[in-house]
Amino acid sequence: MPAIHLKNVSFGYERQQALLEVPELLIEEGERVFLYGPSGSGKTTLLGLIAGILTAKTGEVEVLGKDLTHLSLSMRDRHRGSEMGYIFQSFNLIPYLSVRQNIGLPCELHAKRRKRITASSIDEEISRIASRLDIGEFLDRPVTRLSTGQQQRVAIARAVIGAPRLVIADEPTSSLDRNRQENFLRLLIELCDETRATLLFVSHDDSLMSRFDRQISVTEINTVVPC
Ligand SMILES: Nc1ncnc2c1ncn2[C@@H]1O[C@H](COP(=O)(O)OP(=O)(O)O)[C@@H](O)[C@H]1O
Ligand SMILES: [Mg+2]
Repeated sequence: MPAIHLKNVSFGYERQQALLEVPELLIEEGERVFLYGPSGSGKTTLLGLIAGILTAKTGEVEVLGKDLTHLSLSMRDRHRGSEMGYIFQSFNLIPYLSVRQNIGLPCELHAKRRKRITASSIDEEISRIASRLDIGEFLDRPVTRLSTGQQQRVAIARAVIGAPRLVIADEPTSSLDRNRQENFLRLLIELCDETRATLLFVSHDDSLMSRFDRQISVTEINTVVPC
């Protein structure tokens, strides 16, 4: 079964003209894919369709065995929360929660994520992942009292806890220097490998692409010519 299969998908915001027309995009389960393209080329929009945050105008968006175009918004939300970990460009951590609470959130919200934990408790799994990411000593701090690099690692932990089958990262390294980018990517890949999650990593920065099984250019899979 493919992790992601888009067929004849088109999408445009509101009444604007089509932004994306994708005849086909096929990503197999377990693949590590680097998706690239210039700023404004529709990378985040494509991720929104795959995550089920946005709805395609036409075509089929099959993600982990479900055709999202036939699901209601709330069913897509549940599918995303149970099966996907999403790392946003701006992390979207919850500022009034501690590091521990942020990391544990997907397990609080989604029984499937909770049930996949093999450690004896959620707290133990949070500690295990946090120490792998070198943020184990900050678990009871508010996330706002961490550095940018530490907050990014909290975002990785929150995305991988409870073994989601697909991890999506939208330009998570754009504010990091070169060494920290490499380190971030190494940790993310290691943690995805542990659970055999499919990894879809987006960046406009080509320097990281060699670490992936496959590189996909948004402008190549999209048949809409930008104006
Ligand atoms: N919510 C929105 N409403 C209308 N237009 C949008 C919205 N989000 C993005 N766009 C437009 O869609 C195009 C693609 O944006 P985006 O997918 O964010 O590109 P990228 O992630 O590759 O930088 C841009 O021209 C952007 O201005
Ligand atoms: Mg973007």
